[in-house]
Parts: sequence; structure tokens; C-alpha cells
Amino acid sequence: MKLGRLNHVGVATPSIEDSLALYARLFGAQPHGSAFDLPAQGVRVCFVDTPNSQIELIEPLGPDSPVRKFLEKNPLGGQHHVCFEVPDIHAAKAVFEAKGARVLGEPRLGAHGTLVFFVHPKDMGGVLTEIMETPKQAH
Ligand code: CO
Repeated sequence: MKLGRLNHVGVATPSIEDSLALYARLFGAQPHGSAFDLPAQGVRVCFVDTPNSQIELIEPLGPDSPVRKFLEKNPLGGQHHVCFEVPDIHAAKAVFEAKGARVLGEPRLGAHGTLVFFVHPKDMGGVLTEIMETPKQAH
């Protein structure tokens, strides 16, 4: 399997609005569209474009959000995950599992409307890693 494009860096935040204000104040950066709920992941999401990638701001959605625990340990928020693209999500899952890296759950709908899964940070050098199928059309 070939390492694909870095699609985005996930940044957990207690407030997407406050983070957007910070990116606007320090970088003059604007959000890529409005924030939206992603119930399958238990998060509310908003993207900020960079010239070669994106920052994915993620805020907890619902009481069981996996981001809630992260924010308990990191109250200011912080870098949460990195996301690489692959051409075929099911093929990628099979490769990771065959090589002994734990895949967290079944592929599910991600923020770009394609299937994603996460690889356990303990099998990825401490980095929670999202694997995402490359969108078929420009987004
Ligand atoms: Co992500």
C-alpha cells in the first residue's frame, strides 16, 4: 500500500467558533464552509483550508463523543489525528489488519462524504491516524 496525500490534520477544540476566531486573528484564515454535525463520529466539524491541506476543527457532539475524553486531558484542545488518503478503503483496512495494526471499527462515513477508519495510536507510533478513501470528485 502506498501512503496517500495528507488530507487534513484533526484538531480538537472545546469551541469551533473560538478556534475559527483564533485562525482568523492570527492567520487571516477563513472557514471552508459552515460547521456541520457528523453524528457517525460523534463530532461537530469545520474545516480551514491551507494551501496544501486542511485543518479539521472537531468539537464534541453528544455525551459519548470520543473527543470529550481528549478534551478532559487537554482542556485547551490540541492535535487529535492526522488523515491520509487511500484509493480503496476496504483494501487499506485489509492491509492494516494483515500487518497487525488495529483498525478501530468498521469504515464509516467521514467529513468528506467518503468512508474512513481510524488506526489505533498504539500501532501507529502514538499518532491516532485516520485513513480516508479519496473523494471521487473535487470537493
Ligand atoms: Co479527520
